[in-house]
Amino acid sequence: MNYDEAVQIADGVYWVGFYDSHANFHCNPYLIVDHDEAILIEPGSVPHFPIVARKVISVIDPKKISYILLSHQDPDLAGSLPVFEDLINNPELKIVTSERASFLISFYGIRSPYYLVDKNDLKLKLKSGRELTFILTPYLHSPAAFVTYDTKSRILFSGDLFGAFSDSWELYAKDSYNNDMKKFHVPYMPSNDVLASAMKNIEKLDIEMIAPQHGSIIKKDLVKSSIGFLKDLKCGVPAI
Ligand SMILES: [Fe+2]
Ligand SMILES: [Fe+2]
Repeated sequence: MNYDEAVQIADGVYWVGFYDSHANFHCNPYLIVDHDEAILIEPGSVPHFPIVARKVISVIDPKKISYILLSHQDPDLAGSLPVFEDLINNPELKIVTSERASFLISFYGIRSPYYLVDKNDLKLKLKSGRELTFILTPYLHSPAAFVTYDTKSRILFSGDLFGAFSDSWELYAKDSYNNDMKKFHVPYMPSNDVLASAMKNIEKLDIEMIAPQHGSIIKKDLVKSSIGFLKDLKCGVPAI
């Protein structure tokens, strides 16, 4: 697999991240292209901007991006926001996030208006009719966090949930991925109670793939076992 280029992970859905062979903590921006419209999911940090921007441009005219989606406010996913606003240069651009996250995202100095998922019935409909739905996952790890389900590709864009520290990173998760998720979830997620209750909501979805903001993409054959693993994982204050 050529990680120097955008990688198509489903029809019209691309991984546009920075592969760093020295890093054990990878960030994963994604791009959904839907007819004449596109959504950039968690574009990343300022240091990663040149690589992510090059990959986005290789797939689509950035002006067609009408939404940037952020599952919460952290700099590893939102730091490059003002620079991406300049690149995209689309007056219709909106920042899709939760209200709690918006209070902090404003400090990046953005100009675009928000589309707040929790003020819009936890849904976003694209021009084509394609719908993204959202599940609030508070305190996992941010109080503002939510996950995004694309009803067309049946991909769950899970933000920090299902993320991992990986010594030998690959785009798609291997059988040993649970151990990598454990290294990330134990220190960053607050408790098993909170994690398990989110997993109970997530397991109701028909999921083809889980695309986290860190670590590797979980294909369908590992989806059920990954959800089950996090449902039982002791993490946060009781575990450290
Ligand atoms: Fe985070
Ligand atoms: Fe993150």
